[in-house]
Amino acid sequence: MAIPRHLAIIMDGNGRWAENHHLPRVSGHRRGVETVQSIVRSCRELGIGYLTLYAFSSENWGRPEEEVGALMGLLGQFLKSEMETMLARGIRLRVIGETRRLPAPIFHVLDEAVERTAGNREMVLTLALSYGARNELVRAARALAERVAAGVLAADSIDDETFASALDTAEIPDPDLLIRTSGEMRISNFLLWQLAYTELYFTETLWPDFDDDQLQLALKEYGRRQRRFGLTAAQIHGKDREVPH
Ligand code: IPE
Ligand code: IPE
Ligand code: MG
Repeated sequence: MAIPRHLAIIMDGNGRWAENHHLPRVSGHRRGVETVQSIVRSCRELGIGYLTLYAFSSENWGRPEEEVGALMGLLGQFLKSEMETMLARGIRLRVIGETRRLPAPIFHVLDEAVERTAGNREMVLTLALSYGARNELVRAARALAERVAAGVLAADSIDDETFASALDTAEIPDPDLLIRTSGEMRISNFLLWQLAYTELYFTETLWPDFDDDQLQLALKEYGRRQRRFGLTAAQIHGKDREVPH
């Protein structure tokens, strides 16, 4: 089993889990939060340095008001209940996305949690909230354009690194492994820039059923992959060749 430095997860299938159990969709989300709690603990114990969870997309704002409200409520409860765990286990919380769109009380709880955990060093837990990669890219382009217009940045000095540092994920390494649950094989506007060389893993398991065994399976599969970053296999095996990261 290989341990990725950065694991990203598209947590999908809460609604179908609820439907399969003849329960309302919100019950699926509630079970989904329990999975989040156990996966965060497992990743911390495994020594995964960065865990990024897609919790609510820009497009998810378009869901029925009742479901959006329930998700926001669960997010608030999650943050309150996880605070002690994050502090006790050295977990630093970060958020990516247009968090200003979140209801004010949630935004403030988030802000406080990010601040209180800022000194933690064992694992960075990033929640993607009100997140859409196209929106993130547009905001980054706009921020860079403003700096060019202000005369503090030369347009021809913008390279991959400058661009990456203007994204919400600045200072977070690119994901090594992306897991998507529920059998859907798409990216759904998640980390379009950052996933350029990420290993992708799809499982039919619905998020509320995703447990430690499922996580082990994904990590085993990840360990079998050969990441070549555009080079040849021989170059990758060669000891004298540094793999770009
Ligand atoms: C993922 O589960 C959670 C969020 C997108 C907030 P879904 O709610 O998308 O579950 P399905 O895809 O309808 O089963
Ligand atoms: C992706 O799931 C977003 C999250 C997991 C938060 P969706 O259920 O919203 O994605 P689509 O609509 O099936 O692509
Ligand atoms: Mg879904």
